[in-house]
Amino acid sequence: MARVRSTGAVVAAVSVSVTVLSLFLSNFKSKSSSKRIKLPFSLLKNPRSGLVDAIGNTPLIRINSLSDATGCEILGKCEFLNPGGSVKDRVAVKIIEEALESGCLAPGGVVTEGSAGSTAISLATVAPAYGCKCHVVIPDDVAIEKSQILEALGATVERVRPVSIIHRDHYVNIAKRRASEANELASKHLEPEQMNGKVLDQINGYRSGGEKESSFFLRNCKGGFFADQFENLANFRAHYEGTGPEIWEQTGGKLDAFVAAAGTGGTVAGVSKFLQEKNPKVKSFLIDPPGSGLFNKVTRGVMYTREEAEGRRLKNPFDTVTEGIGINRLTQNFMNAKLDGAFRGTDIEAVEMSRYLLKNDGLFLGSSSAMNCVGAVRVAQSIGPGHTIVTILCDSGMRHLSKFYSAEYLSQFGLMPTASGLEFLGVQ
Ligand SMILES: Cc1ncc(COP(=O)(O)O)c(C=O)c1O
Repeated sequence: MARVRSTGAVVAAVSVSVTVLSLFLSNFKSKSSSKRIKLPFSLLKNPRSGLVDAIGNTPLIRINSLSDATGCEILGKCEFLNPGGSVKDRVAVKIIEEALESGCLAPGGVVTEGSAGSTAISLATVAPAYGCKCHVVIPDDVAIEKSQILEALGATVERVRPVSIIHRDHYVNIAKRRASEANELASKHLEPEQMNGKVLDQINGYRSGGEKESSFFLRNCKGGFFADQFENLANFRAHYEGTGPEIWEQTGGKLDAFVAAAGTGGTVAGVSKFLQEKNPKVKSFLIDPPGSGLFNKVTRGVMYTREEAEGRRLKNPFDTVTEGIGINRLTQNFMNAKLDGAFRGTDIEAVEMSRYLLKNDGLFLGSSSAMNCVGAVRVAQSIGPGHTIVTILCDSGMRHLSKFYSAEYLSQFGLMPTASGLEFLGVQ
């Protein structure tokens, strides 16, 4: 009797345990499959390793307001969620990794770049993960928060007067020179003060002397490497090997069109080329801001009028209030783009779009992302409802407070938003 009782007790105990275990497992399974459960770190299957591994694989989200309004599925790749806050994190990683692999950049060396912001911020973010330093040259009309961020990240920054790209003191040319100077130091085992005062020279009329600028050439300098985001095809490859395949995978290959604006052209080239190779039926489009010659290049094969050629004129900083997009020369990166057409976007459309997305979707986006969304609506209007259109949400509005999100700044150019819906794009 006692034995029967104890056997029964064991059976009961086992069945209770099995039930509890299966309940736990089914609960665990359903929660983990809905991705709501937070696993302790040790249980994570593939924890990402360090900052570099946290770059890319960004979510692709349905932009509900635009999708509902146009009858297309309009999807945005959330590049603003990268650790350095923009699509340029991918480019920074690729540029540094390829330079280290080829031996053009020595471990501990300094990466220099002439960048109006995002790429520089990404290089400054990523460089320490490779044991490198970062030196950035930017025009002095760029939003002040960008250079503040760079300095806070530990990069050295030169703010210089905007001049034409053919001028030796254009910010891109100065950045290139800084890399050569760092290499000269390293090859001759010189210390900064032995550089014959070069570093303390005048830059675009500003005296760049003083501790801040000269401290960029650190003692025991390991040399420099000019990132050259416009011409370095590592930029294109970052998107051809990363962003493009991710979009393909996230849509299950079921997309009809891709649209983005171009600065260096790396994003639009890498993604469009990858998608075209996967399925030539996927159409890629450019959305071009005011002041840029790319629309003409894509639609008519002619980049610009003679008077507008880059190098002949100083780029008017008020051509557009958008930042990071639009250009008047053909870059090596852009030349790889496979485009089926182009649209022009205006500043007021980008401003209105940014406020519309903030109001309707809670998306707080930068100016280039807003322009990309204008492009997505233009593509939807062109190809009609029932299609899937992907664009890039490059960075967040946080970096654009003093210009794109400043009522005072926008009102100077008559760009105050007034729309209540998408009427500014002819969508009722
Ligand atoms: C914020 C932002 N968005 C978009 C772009 C354009 O991307 P791409 O250079 O790949 O053409 C840039 C380029 O600098 C940028 O800084």
